[in-house]
Amino acid sequence: MSPAEGRSVEAPAVLQTQNVYKEYQTSAGVVAAVRGVNLSIVEGEFASIMGPSGSGKTTLLSLMGALEPPTKGDVLLRGRDIGLMRNRELAELRRFDVGFVFQRFYLVDHLTAWENIRFPLGFNTQMSRPEREERADFLLEMVGLGHRGDHFPRQLSGGEQQRVAIARAMANEPAVILADEPTGNLDQRTSDDILTALEDLNKRLGQTLVLVTHDPGVAERSSRVIQLEDGELVRQYGQDDFSAR
Ligand SMILES: Nc1ncnc2c1ncn2[C@@H]1O[C@H](COP(=O)(O)OP(=O)(O)OP(=O)(O)O)[C@@H](O)[C@H]1O
Ligand SMILES: [Mg+2]
Repeated sequence: MSPAEGRSVEAPAVLQTQNVYKEYQTSAGVVAAVRGVNLSIVEGEFASIMGPSGSGKTTLLSLMGALEPPTKGDVLLRGRDIGLMRNRELAELRRFDVGFVFQRFYLVDHLTAWENIRFPLGFNTQMSRPEREERADFLLEMVGLGHRGDHFPRQLSGGEQQRVAIARAMANEPAVILADEPTGNLDQRTSDDILTALEDLNKRLGQTLVLVTHDPGVAERSSRVIQLEDGELVRQYGQDDFSAR
């Protein structure tokens, strides 16, 4: 493909769900949290998932990130069926191929912002020590916190903590970032800030992004909106060619 053709040419799928189901057994009976979802997230896209509370958004995200196995159906990461992976491979996948961002930031309290970002790089045997440090510096700058590297989480605002969490999720260049209501605990201005940081990572670094949100304003800024209801994918729409998928 010539560069001019850009994104209109089929981008490769990073993450696919093929007719996935997730059922939970509870004392009250079986809960079907996700029901027959088919999705394909392509490289470089910024997709958002919306739907009422209890519609299965978090469950779907945890299936996509291999945090839980589906009851039925397959999840493919870069074409590889994660249902066929052994525990060690799955642990590697969660460490290197998927970056998670949650509503709560889950930073390590006794590590500084820079150290929190540096931490997951320690698992990366492909990088030398100076490379890891350089990467941590770069990511801290990317999320606009170059001046806050030495601060501990308690010395950072909620928005700053979330930016550290995003940089940490990016550490090992994951194929995809999965974010579950990353602005859910933040005020409007700070959420805008976080969203801008995520958009930046998507546009400037081509980071593939899947974001769960309740906020239509947030979803509007993504390239494709995926709507769930009662565990089913009921509608998808987008501003560009992603809408056709
Ligand atoms: N571990 C579990 N055991 C039993 N039921 C569960 C479990 N996790 C989720 N569920 C149920 O599955 C359904 C989907 O839950 P999920 O958390 O995915 O919804 P959600 O769309 O993320 O909601 P919210 O917007 O409130 O975060 C709900 O009915 C929920 O009660
Ligand atoms: Mg949820």
